[in-house]
Amino acid sequence: MRLTVIFENHAGYRKGLLGYHGFSVLVEHSGRKVLVDTGTDGSVLLHNMDSLGISPGEVDAIFLTHGHYDHTGGLKAFLQERGKGVDVYAHPDIFQRRIALEPKPREIGIPFTREELEDLGARFHLTPKPMEFLPGFLSSGEVERRHWDRAVGYLTKNGEYVKDPVRDDVALIVDLGGEVAVITGCGHSGILNIAEQAIRLTGKPIGALIGGFHLRGAKRKLLDGAIGRLKSLKVGGLYAGHCTGVDEYAYLKARFQKTGPLHVGLSLEL
Ligand SMILES: [Fe+2]
Ligand SMILES: [Fe+2]
Repeated sequence: MRLTVIFENHAGYRKGLLGYHGFSVLVEHSGRKVLVDTGTDGSVLLHNMDSLGISPGEVDAIFLTHGHYDHTGGLKAFLQERGKGVDVYAHPDIFQRRIALEPKPREIGIPFTREELEDLGARFHLTPKPMEFLPGFLSSGEVERRHWDRAVGYLTKNGEYVKDPVRDDVALIVDLGGEVAVITGCGHSGILNIAEQAIRLTGKPIGALIGGFHLRGAKRKLLDGAIGRLKSLKVGGLYAGHCTGVDEYAYLKARFQKTGPLHVGLSLEL
């Protein structure tokens, strides 16, 4: 498997690439290319794809980890540039209207309707269940929350704000034979829940856990518990970026044997 980071908060490691808050990676495995998330902004996404020599037309499928704008905002421009249909795999809740209240009220859901994306060629396959959508590419499905989660934001119900559990937060599990790689967008379901679900579903150990872990502002007790549990699950490596948090990343890095950063242009071979 080869993973290339296309859209991420951190840049400056390679010329000609733009950093921006959001997440998108290309996963190549078994002769297929899956685009995981599309970042916040289509022009940044397409600029970085072009700089990295990746054309929208060569993508075999799109996997959306959840409906937040920083993972779906580039989808419309991607479809327009591609100019032909593409299968999009996700959880049915990605189209929910979502609001953040701090620091000021704003929309944080997918900034497009399902219809306008379908008109541009998106073929949505939405299910809360685990699903192998291409050989070796498995969606975790809705993640069972046995430990803490890291949900954020609000839904609107009958004119009121209710806490958003971000049920649509799913992870991509890539079957590498003897082990799996797990790719999480923001990790709102909680990285421990995600890791355990991947192991339960596949019966295989995790070689690498990659993506946004949403640990910014997490208490030490939570971080220590996460590190201990990931070690006992024998997770091979952590590649953490996006919403992981700078201090929290440093805390993980100092305590987990193999931890690496994510940045635009990074390529991982597993
Ligand atoms: Fe995010
Ligand atoms: Fe998110």
